[in-house]
Amino acid sequence: MNNKAIGIFDSGVGGLTVLKEIRKNLPNENIIYLGDTQNFPYGNKSKKEIINFAIKNVETLIKKDVKIIIIACGTATSQALDLLKKRYSIPIIGIIEPTVNYVKEKGYKQVGVIATEGTIRSGEWEKRLKEKIPNIEVENKACPMLATIAEEGKANSPQGRAVIKEYMKGFKKKHIDKIILGCTHYPIYEQILRDELEYEVELINTGVTVSEYLRSYLEQHKIQNDNGGDENIFLTKSEEQFKTIAKKIMDEEISVKSIDI
Ligand code: DGL
Repeated sequence: MNNKAIGIFDSGVGGLTVLKEIRKNLPNENIIYLGDTQNFPYGNKSKKEIINFAIKNVETLIKKDVKIIIIACGTATSQALDLLKKRYSIPIIGIIEPTVNYVKEKGYKQVGVIATEGTIRSGEWEKRLKEKIPNIEVENKACPMLATIAEEGKANSPQGRAVIKEYMKGFKKKHIDKIILGCTHYPIYEQILRDELEYEVELINTGVTVSEYLRSYLEQHKIQNDNGGDENIFLTKSEEQFKTIAKKIMDEEISVKSIDI
């Protein structure tokens, strides 16, 4: 047993889609969530900048004495995870490996990946998928505006729908029916994506794959908490929209605190 908290970070509200699944799967864990709203969005920043933000986030969470860190951000996972793992001894889990394992277990041979510009540019999803599933066909699509529209609370607006329509054109043509939501903001668009695609599609939510992976990791290493359930959410810049969007994602009111990192 280990009653220390699980640390989670993202650039903003998106990582709450991961927090939500972790909460469902591991109700007894204490959680510290860090949203780096000051530096949002990560998706259009250089690799060097992403690494610097990720280092600050990890060090902030380490100071809060967490037992493990979840990078609930596709952009930071794709560009900073390898370096962070070498640099710190604390276990760090990103969103790519658990999701690749899931795709492999399911035996899928074709998947679409939607993610931020930086994530798609890194080529990390395709590389990791092909390492484990050599014959897999991967259709990538960068969706540069989605995280920002979601962070502004405008996902379900004519603008949100128009952008999804545009981004889904290629997938629709090829009838791609398994799509990895490679950015943690994207589960917010789940219904809009389904409406636009008009066929049966599996939208692979990385929050689900990560929370499963985390549960078995904690069990294997015998570091579960049997007596917690607290949640503390910190933002590097307070955002008016954050609490409203968070409530929609989490189905409950949340309180947030500011933090300088
Ligand atoms: N939610 C993040 C991701 O998964 C970041 C989006 C952004 O900050 O641009 O990529």
